[in-house]
Amino acid sequence: MPLKFPEQFLWGTATSPTQIEGHINNEWTDFVARDGRTCRVACDNYHRYAEDIEWMSRLGVNSYRMGIEWSRLQSEAGGPLHEAELARYVDQLDRLNAAGIVPMVVLHHFSNPPWINAAGGWTNPAAVPAFVDFATRLVAALRGHVRLWNTFNEPDTYASCGYLIGEFPPMRKGRLHSFRTVVGRMAEAHERVCRIIREAGSTLGKVEAGFSKNWTWFQPFNRFLPWDALFAAFCHWQINRFVLKSFLGGETKTAATFLGVNYYGRVRFKNLNPLVPTFGFSHQELAGLGVECDDMLERHPAGLESALKELHEQSRLPIYLTEHGCSSDDEAFRERDLKENLAALHRAIAGGVDVRGFYYWSLLDNFEWQFGYSKKFGLLEVDFSDARLLRKMKPLAQIYRQVCLENSIGHP
Ligand code: BGC
Repeated sequence: MPLKFPEQFLWGTATSPTQIEGHINNEWTDFVARDGRTCRVACDNYHRYAEDIEWMSRLGVNSYRMGIEWSRLQSEAGGPLHEAELARYVDQLDRLNAAGIVPMVVLHHFSNPPWINAAGGWTNPAAVPAFVDFATRLVAALRGHVRLWNTFNEPDTYASCGYLIGEFPPMRKGRLHSFRTVVGRMAEAHERVCRIIREAGSTLGKVEAGFSKNWTWFQPFNRFLPWDALFAAFCHWQINRFVLKSFLGGETKTAATFLGVNYYGRVRFKNLNPLVPTFGFSHQELAGLGVECDDMLERHPAGLESALKELHEQSRLPIYLTEHGCSSDDEAFRERDLKENLAALHRAIAGGVDVRGFYYWSLLDNFEWQFGYSKKFGLLEVDFSDARLLRKMKPLAQIYRQVCLENSIGHP
């Protein structure tokens, strides 16, 4: 029996400006990733967005979660939005809407304009009014083109990679205070921007606004090892609990209409080492321990069902699963991962969780931040060895296409 999803369910795919657009001027422009490469050209989506929308039509998705890059639009605090850059985004949105692909627009995805970074980024309180000003102008300009707004993508990842583990600009380590300050500031901006979005409304229908929380389960590999149990609890407390509380907690935090959840899997600690390939463990070693990973994290589909239940109970908000994906060269593995996670999503919905959409990360193989082009999350392959950057559907794209068109999956 195929597993049917609710009527009107959004089946989408997701990207972010720094990872696909190219020709961008933010803190990632000069960042050299572990593969020695930069995001300077990326997938050149800046020039090829029309072609990428055609690929999406072939894929059969009915929604697209995309970012609008702040650094392209404003060159100073409170300044006007650059007309030509805005027009490019408007054209992109109009093409999506015309193709029946509902855009969900992300306002912040791990990057800021250079003038914000020069002033200390989000550790400086001035980032909040500057961002609110940007969002106010953008929402007013786009209310005829956008109905779904996603304020911040993974403030937890942005602040922890930038201020706790030193893997994202500004590459700071162990700055718990800065981590918490940045999260708090983003939460404040989120609340204000959600209000502005709701007041502005959209000519396309009911406006929706929310942020996206990355939900990773942190667990000890052996729960009887107190240091691993404590460390996992610390990560869970700071990265999950604290961030959620900042964004959703308190009686004044009422502006969002949905919660975005990005779910990939879990990290288990063994003698304080995270059991994941990105920390130097081979797939073979991990498999020997019973830890099944893609090229990034441990797969844990059952955890998606429990995360959704927990987050729904806590937030009392409808949920969009704004990202799930799997990075591997093994397409059969990715197919199983997709189906297992969609089955878990289906169980959560059947159990009463109000989930409105699913976005596969990612449309294209792209610039995976500190790892460069070595992680392959795309439904479409991009040939980075050829200046033409040709796109090609991978086998997983055909599987996902069927899911989107039938609004259902066969049993995994
Ligand atoms: C981020 C994406 C990233 C993906 C895969 C998410 O945390 O939002 O930008 O590429 O995970 O690692």
